[in-house]
Amino acid sequence: MDKWRAKIKLRGALMRAFKLGGIHKQTTTQSKIYTRYPKIHEVHIDEENEAVRFTFTLPDGANPDLVLKQEWVFKQCFGNNIEIDGKVKKFILRCYSKDMKKDIPYEFKKIQPHLKDKNIPIMCGVDRSGKMNVKDMAKEHHMLLTGTTGSGKSSLIRGILTSLILHKSPDEIQFLLGDLKFSEFGIYKRLPHVMGVFMDAKSLLPPLQIIENEMFRRGKLLDKMDVESIYELKDRPPTLSCVLMRLYCSRINPK
Ligand SMILES: Nc1ncnc2c1ncn2[C@@H]1O[C@H](COP(=O)(O)OP(=O)(O)OP(=O)(O)O)[C@@H](O)[C@H]1O
Ligand SMILES: [Mg+2]
Repeated sequence: MDKWRAKIKLRGALMRAFKLGGIHKQTTTQSKIYTRYPKIHEVHIDEENEAVRFTFTLPDGANPDLVLKQEWVFKQCFGNNIEIDGKVKKFILRCYSKDMKKDIPYEFKKIQPHLKDKNIPIMCGVDRSGKMNVKDMAKEHHMLLTGTTGSGKSSLIRGILTSLILHKSPDEIQFLLGDLKFSEFGIYKRLPHVMGVFMDAKSLLPPLQIIENEMFRRGKLLDKMDVESIYELKDRPPTLSCVLMRLYCSRINPK
């Protein structure tokens, strides 16, 4: 089947899903009921990854929960391997023909090129199409990694730390690691990038206070230099990570 025909067929399948799931907006006048379905803007066929991406928008007044809660209807029409992105009006539905790979080996050589344009690259793994997903903690300052028991949280956090440690020198990045489970970060504790691994609330408190002091110091520095980010101060010695290290050492070895 040529691509054009395939797209028409896919468009029809999506319209069918909208109808089955009641994803529409109805307006009633005295004599008639008007039903408006979402508008399909694009059907993209990714042959390499055996995937299809639909972009559609809901008619004004349609409840977005119709899409998010009716995921099952898309699964019935396109199979279990789907993802829906969107919140209010515009949605992207991705449908994959293959299941995700069971094992994806950690290979720093493949990851490294994706870290280069980020200040603090956080390697989050690959998406279903095999694309590397890397966030920048310099832009997204707070991150939370959650999941059910055994879903891979520890493995991912180790992947993130290992990538940062291999990519940056100890002068560029320093870690204070909190590990209240006594089992997460043992392999990192002797590395020069790691200021300490703290395993209970009492010992974790002083490093957290050091971070608070450092945030305060940096805030004053930004104000004094009239800049918005420490990256604009990059070449001004001493590097901030070293200061953090020194503060910590002086705290544990007060002279
Ligand atoms: N991306 C992955 N692909 C395949 N297997 C994985 C992946 N991530 C983790 N695993 C495997 O899943 C198992 C559980 O992983 P992990 O210990 O990281 O989970 P967790 O969420 O930290 O669990 P817990 O809640 O018990 O701390 C391990 O055997 C690990 O090898
Ligand atoms: Mg764990």
